Amino acid sequence: TRIFQSVNCVKLLYAFLSFAGVSCNSVEKKIYVHLNYTVSCVRLLNATHQIGCQSSLSGNVGVLHVLESEENLDWVLHSGPNPPYMVILESPLFTRSVMMKLKNGSGRVAGVAVVAPNTNPAEGFSPHTTCPNENTGVYSETYEPTMANCNMTVWNPLGNGLSYEEFDFPIFSLKDDNDTQVIRQCYLDHNRAGNGSTPQYPLCAMQLYSHMSAVTDTATCMRRNAINFSLNPEMVCDPLGDQNVWASTRPLNNTAKGHKMWESVVIAAARLDSRSFFFDIAPGAQSGVSGFVTLLAAAHALRNATQEAQPNRTILYTFFQGETFDYIGSSRMVYDMENKQFVVDLDNVHSVLEIGQVGLRADSKLWLHTDPVSRRNESVNKEVEDLIGNLRSAATGLNVTVDVPGFSQPLPPSSFQRFLRARPIPGVVLEDHQSAYTNKFYESMYDNAENLNVSYPPNLTPEEQLEYITDTAVTEVATMVARALYRQAGGEESQLSSIKADPQIVTKMLYSFLVRSNNSWFQQLVPSDFTSYLANRPPNFYVGVVQQSSEPTLLVQYLLANLTGSTINITQDNCKNQREDESDKMYNYMWVQGAAPPNSTEREGYCVRSTARLSKALSPAFDLEQYTSKNFSTWTESRWKFIKGRIFLVASHELEMLTLGVGVGVLLSSLLVTYIISSKADILFSSGREPTNATY
Ligand SMILES: *[C@@H]1O[C@H](CO)[C@@H](O)[C@H](O)[C@H]1NC(C)=O
Ligand SMILES: *[C@@H]1O[C@H](CO)[C@@H](O)[C@H](O)[C@H]1NC(C)=O
Ligand SMILES: *[C@@H]1O[C@H](CO)[C@@H](O)[C@H](O)[C@H]1NC(C)=O
Ligand SMILES: *[C@@H]1O[C@H](CO)[C@@H](O)[C@H](O)[C@H]1NC(C)=O
Ligand SMILES: *[C@@H]1O[C@H](CO)[C@@H](O)[C@H](O)[C@H]1NC(C)=O
Ligand SMILES: *[C@@H]1O[C@H](CO)[C@@H](O)[C@H](O)[C@H]1NC(C)=O
Ligand SMILES: *[C@@H]1O[C@H](CO)[C@@H](O)[C@H](O)[C@H]1NC(C)=O
Ligand SMILES: *[C@@H]1O[C@H](CO)[C@@H](O)[C@H](O)[C@H]1NC(C)=O
Ligand SMILES: *[C@@H]1O[C@H](CO)[C@@H](O)[C@H](O)[C@H]1NC(C)=O
Ligand SMILES: *[C@@H]1O[C@H](CO)[C@@H](O)[C@H](O)[C@H]1NC(C)=O
Ligand SMILES: *[C@@H]1O[C@H](CO)[C@@H](O)[C@H](O)[C@H]1NC(C)=O
Ligand SMILES: *[C@@H]1O[C@H](CO)[C@@H](O)[C@H](O)[C@H]1NC(C)=O
Repeated sequence: TRIFQSVNCVKLLYAFLSFAGVSCNSVEKKIYVHLNYTVSCVRLLNATHQIGCQSSLSGNVGVLHVLESEENLDWVLHSGPNPPYMVILESPLFTRSVMMKLKNGSGRVAGVAVVAPNTNPAEGFSPHTTCPNENTGVYSETYEPTMANCNMTVWNPLGNGLSYEEFDFPIFSLKDDNDTQVIRQCYLDHNRAGNGSTPQYPLCAMQLYSHMSAVTDTATCMRRNAINFSLNPEMVCDPLGDQNVWASTRPLNNTAKGHKMWESVVIAAARLDSRSFFFDIAPGAQSGVSGFVTLLAAAHALRNATQEAQPNRTILYTFFQGETFDYIGSSRMVYDMENKQFVVDLDNVHSVLEIGQVGLRADSKLWLHTDPVSRRNESVNKEVEDLIGNLRSAATGLNVTVDVPGFSQPLPPSSFQRFLRARPIPGVVLEDHQSAYTNKFYESMYDNAENLNVSYPPNLTPEEQLEYITDTAVTEVATMVARALYRQAGGEESQLSSIKADPQIVTKMLYSFLVRSNNSWFQQLVPSDFTSYLANRPPNFYVGVVQQSSEPTLLVQYLLANLTGSTINITQDNCKNQREDESDKMYNYMWVQGAAPPNSTEREGYCVRSTARLSKALSPAFDLEQYTSKNFSTWTESRWKFIKGRIFLVASHELEMLTLGVGVGVLLSSLLVTYIISSKADILFSSGREPTNATY
């Protein structure tokens, strides 16, 4: 009956999976369905720990078990007869409590697959820590002990810390689609125990591969890299790192690094990156996109004013990468500024205005966060008061109210903290929360368009969605930021009313970064060799490795160039060679593919001149080879060969032995037949040969 059953299951599964183009091997009585959508958690390492997940070298195999409730864990951890189990979790069960129990019972757990829901969970979810970048901001025991470790304000109270745990089994994410339905069905048909009975073979099983090359910590893997490199260039891990994007309202001589005598710079900062529990999904809508889109829109709003009535101070727009991982981008820029490796140095920095999470304003309110410790200094305090004053007056007449948190509260996690670590620079961090985050999905896969309430009426085509104005709140904030920056840079009061952010541009940016980057607008703004990176989904804002610019970095650079630069009429070659005819390399030139004129399919490219450039966002710890540094980020990412998964039916051991027995029997009898045939060949084949002989 078992053989009958297994044939039956193959038919059944085959019916479910006929769309998958899977061929059924009737000899093996097994069926493999490869999972197309494999989103996995990977291993990361820092100075002291490894976090994340991995499988064994040959992948982990386990019998599927769809967890129905937390109580049901007992089956997986104790009573189930067929360990190890591959646990399928519906997202409400992807909690710290369940995951820590699975981690503790890892001998019976082969892996976990979490089914991602199609709408965000109402109660919120954050796999990040409650106190992001706790040890690498400014609030240390030496700076101000009472403010260290989020003693005064817990910024991310929903954080369950799962992203920073180590699991010695693979964890994948599954989309809630037909593919996943097949898995659930396979479980229901084969593995689900009836009343008290144990499920019968063959059972539905899953195999997940996500073997990671690096172990232990960053120092260990960097040492292994160095050893391996001399033998064969096979690395085991790479430092997390990327590029920061920056531009200035006045062209700065980028060849001359370090102090610029007459330059006074107002830094306007935002962060670019984000993360989630899973490697491939980091939408960062509120945590990253809301802030940098606001800053991009403000930079655009300031283009005319800063060209026509140049204020005395230069505004430096900076977009930091890798901030999630202990402030990689900002710590690098500050380090470079201190070591005369950046275009301006710290002495040139007048003040900092950072745009944090600003997409979820309650009562149209924004909060101006400042550092109470540096404000104890009278002159710093005065500058901070001036900046707050500029922000307040910039908000008048707009649908934005700004306020300061009512008590002496430290700064939320922000790039500005890395400037303060170097010296007491005046600055403000703009946020939509007074104390704890309003973002219920900080650094999670749910921090997406839905979280920012970006939605479209049904039946709009993608092109109509691109143009559809979803949001005016971000535009208002951008206008306020632009006006405040202009005042802060010493610009004329009379110009202020002409500075307005463009809602059309804001809405197109939100669409491109939150819904799909492959749209007619972005296609025009990028060079032709970049178009293959545009996709029908939002970009992944997870930081890159070893300074390979990730796709969002370059997108932001192209956008910044378009929004702050100008087009110039020079040839494509001249543009790509950065205008060799021009001796002072004050600008950056980019050839973008442009749009096709009506009645033509041929795009007409053009050259954009701007000050938008990239700078290193690699932690100084790797240049200094201080892999156990406490000051700088030490995060590295393990390498892996492949990440994949499949499901199949496993026969019982008995069935396998039976198959083996039959196989051995067949082999023996065929050997016997061969022996008989060859020993009696003369007799058997003599008549066959005769006709051929007869022809002679
Ligand atoms: C997996 O991808 C292949 C090729 O893209 C496709 O033919 C197949 O239908 C997909 N399988 C499933 C289960 O979606
Ligand atoms: C881990 O499992 C052991 C037995 O396997 C149990 O005694 C212990 O309480 C568990 N720890 C936690 C934190 O659940
Ligand atoms: C936290 O801050 C309070 C004062 O605000 C102080 O009394 C307490 O000792 C601090 N706790 C730690 C662990 O530093
Ligand atoms: C490394 O990461 C772990 C896990 O998040 C953390 O507990 C530890 O403090 C980190 N080590 C350093 C030196 O930052
Ligand atoms: C999923 O299955 C349903 C019902 O079998 C079918 O109507 C639908 O088209 C399938 N969707 C995909 C994406 O295959
Ligand atoms: C830029 O700096 C370089 C190196 O200091 C110098 O040679 C060049 O003349 C400067 N260009 C301008 C336009 O100031
Ligand atoms: C900037 O000036 C140009 C012409 O000088 C005008 O067409 C454009 O609308 C202005 N842009 C903004 C944002 O004010
Ligand atoms: C101001 O914002 C509030 C809340 O977001 C909104 O209800 C109101 O319509 C806005 N007013 C204007 C003039 O935009
Ligand atoms: C800008 O600088 C010039 C010369 O350095 C000075 O005369 C002028 O008053 C300054 N303007 C403002 C608004 O500070
Ligand atoms: C920016 O992009 C728009 C739309 O593609 C284009 O019309 C404009 O000329 C571009 N501006 C610059 C300075 O590149
Ligand atoms: C660009 O320059 C070329 C030659 O220098 C000239 O023929 C052409 O008309 C210019 N185009 C524009 C739009 O100014
Ligand atoms: C494009 O083609 C249409 C019809 O083929 C014609 O009416 C129109 O004038 C053309 N436009 C241009 C800019 O050539």
